[in-house]
Amino acid sequence: MSVLLTLCVVLLALATPGRGTPPWEPCTDLRPLDILAEAVPPNGAAGGIRVTQAHGVRGLQLSAAAPHAVSFPASRIFFRCDLFPEEFSIVITLKVPSLPPKKNEYLFTVVAEEPDALLLGLRYSPTRLHFLFLSQDAAGAWQTRVTFRSPTLMDSQWHTLVLAVSEGSFSLTTDCGLPVDIMADVPFPATLSVRGARFFIGSRKRTKGLFTGLVRQLVLLPGSDATPRLCPCRSAELAVLSIPPVLQGPSGRPEDNEVLKYPYETDLKVTLGSRPPCTKAEDAQFWFDASRKGLFLCVGSEWVSVLAAKEKLDYVEEYQSLFTSSETLGIEVFAIPEAGLFVAAANRKATSAIYKWTDGKFASYQNIRTHQAQSWRHFTIGKKVFLAVANFEPNEKGQEFSVIYKWSQRKLRFTPYQRVPTHSARDWEAFEVAGEHFLAVANHREGDNHNIDSVIYKWNPRTRLFEANQTIATSGAYDWEFFTVGPYSFLVVANAFNGTSTKVHSHLYVWLLGSFQLFQAFLTFGAADWEVFRIGERVFLAVANSHSYDVEAQVHNDSYVVNSVIYELNVTAQAFVKFQEIPTCSALDWEFFSVGEDYFLVVANSFDGNTFSVNSIIYRWQGYEGFVAVHSLPTFGCRDWEAFRTAAGSYLVYSSAKEPRSRVLRLRTG
Ligand SMILES: *[C@@H]1O[C@H](CO)[C@@H](O)[C@H](O)[C@H]1NC(C)=O
Ligand SMILES: *[C@@H]1O[C@H](CO)[C@@H](O)[C@H](O)[C@H]1NC(C)=O
Ligand SMILES: *[C@@H]1O[C@H](CO)[C@@H](O)[C@H](O)[C@H]1NC(C)=O
Ligand SMILES: *[C@@H]1O[C@H](CO)[C@@H](O)[C@H](O)[C@H]1NC(C)=O
Repeated sequence: MSVLLTLCVVLLALATPGRGTPPWEPCTDLRPLDILAEAVPPNGAAGGIRVTQAHGVRGLQLSAAAPHAVSFPASRIFFRCDLFPEEFSIVITLKVPSLPPKKNEYLFTVVAEEPDALLLGLRYSPTRLHFLFLSQDAAGAWQTRVTFRSPTLMDSQWHTLVLAVSEGSFSLTTDCGLPVDIMADVPFPATLSVRGARFFIGSRKRTKGLFTGLVRQLVLLPGSDATPRLCPCRSAELAVLSIPPVLQGPSGRPEDNEVLKYPYETDLKVTLGSRPPCTKAEDAQFWFDASRKGLFLCVGSEWVSVLAAKEKLDYVEEYQSLFTSSETLGIEVFAIPEAGLFVAAANRKATSAIYKWTDGKFASYQNIRTHQAQSWRHFTIGKKVFLAVANFEPNEKGQEFSVIYKWSQRKLRFTPYQRVPTHSARDWEAFEVAGEHFLAVANHREGDNHNIDSVIYKWNPRTRLFEANQTIATSGAYDWEFFTVGPYSFLVVANAFNGTSTKVHSHLYVWLLGSFQLFQAFLTFGAADWEVFRIGERVFLAVANSHSYDVEAQVHNDSYVVNSVIYELNVTAQAFVKFQEIPTCSALDWEFFSVGEDYFLVVANSFDGNTFSVNSIIYRWQGYEGFVAVHSLPTFGCRDWEAFRTAAGSYLVYSSAKEPRSRVLRLRTG
């Protein structure tokens, strides 16, 4: 890329006199400051600001908003003092429209109120990107312009630019490519005061020069160059330092409902009727095929399906073999905004592990010391991200507790937050009732006694700790599951063993007058898991029965091949009624997922009485027939299933309680 430097020095008759040079000190936090998130309301769509999707990626369209609606006082981030940092970088992700020659649009500015002066800003024209700032000395003040020739911006694609400024050096990196450096003889001022100034996004405070494209990211990083934090990067044109929550979510190919949730750019044209021609003239136009309910995009003279009419599960294939430090009892898949997709594995031996989805695979990320961990639960309270582990055994000192970890934004790791005394904990469930946050632990046994209390904790916003709120008598509790139906909140426990028998009642509770009260009892056989799911308006509850065992009848009736049961809510009867029984082999988990318009249940079959090599089964919902077995997957000591999705596809992951290997399977669709 050739560079043209035009350093324009425009003398401005400004009243502000020059000042001395006090030593530079940071007036802001030295972390990435999300300027865009500061300027837009959390829900994004207000005052003419629109969330719009282009190439499957969300951005903000600001041009219908009044300039003042997308601005905020500089003092909000310059809270210690008023000096703009001498060294900083700006990261911006945008998609610009083609502009007529000579037209200029502002990406952002910082404008002093009295007198109205542009302190700094970024502006582009069809062939140039200009960085503007106010310079001043004893002789007066003038505007300096550093210009980068930027022909690649206007190709209707997303781009991420990093402008790094350090005294006389101005460096622009586009999509993590080679930086373009400009050494200017007018350095960026050491003492640019932003007292009383405002940040304007997509404007220079006026309607003239309003930004008509889409902006997805605008971040100021005081004190350093953001490039090493962003690059190299797989999709460099969308490299992320920080983006507002309203723009977060899957990027890449639009997912089913994403397409309907946010409108595409307004210049799109959708044609109805029979297949229209697709040539260069129709490029980037849509065709909605009403007969097949398909939406197609004209790309290089071919209609490409973007919203598949019917995505179907064809088959399942092995995608990744994930070797773990020991057998894995529970897995939890979760996403952390701006950090990525993770899976936490609860390992039987000394350490459990967290893996991060990196380049399409789970890669080791963090190890955490646990004591025969049984399961992990991810949850959030406001912006805080937590991960709780259920420890089954005491530590080396004989102390028995489970631990809640909190995600540190600074360290990008989970760090211990709160210890909770537990008794052979099997599971945590996190939920919200009437705006309050709760966490329930399944205490399995204390010594030999399985008939003990499990505890529901409530978040105290004042102490910022979980405090006991209610205890519930359980028998060998294995799992808690929370769900809501209309205005009602339910919590169901899987009771597995009462000391002599696995044939015990598992209980469903409903929240009434500030506590959970018994709603219904289900006879279960070594219940290990409850799964709630919805199909249309219908609500189902499936229990995984693992073992039929009774001390008295043990020799004859010690069976692992037992039926697991799916119940359905009958609203009139105000009860769950048996819908379907499915024979399972020591079932430990149910997972519900959907592909296209189809619904599936997968069961973790772990043991048939002789071997751990048993098939786990995927069932498909077939309406009147109920769930019908469609795929049989060889598994070994299968313990837990999780379904997840990335922009690239749908996956299942399962853990084994009998070998140190979990497997990620990919759902092939047609
Ligand atoms: C456990 O359940 C069995 C069968 O339901 C019952 O006969 C037995 O009395 C129960 N034992 C205890 C300790 O509750
Ligand atoms: C539990 O929390 C509910 C909801 O905040 C409250 O009404 C109730 O008094 C609490 N109970 C105890 C024992 O703290
Ligand atoms: C043993 O189980 C079988 C089938 O599960 C049942 O028919 C039989 O009554 C049970 N026997 C006893 C003694 O519980
Ligand atoms: C629901 O329960 C009501 C009342 O018990 C009963 O009349 C009705 O047949 C049930 N509906 C279904 C679909 O089972």
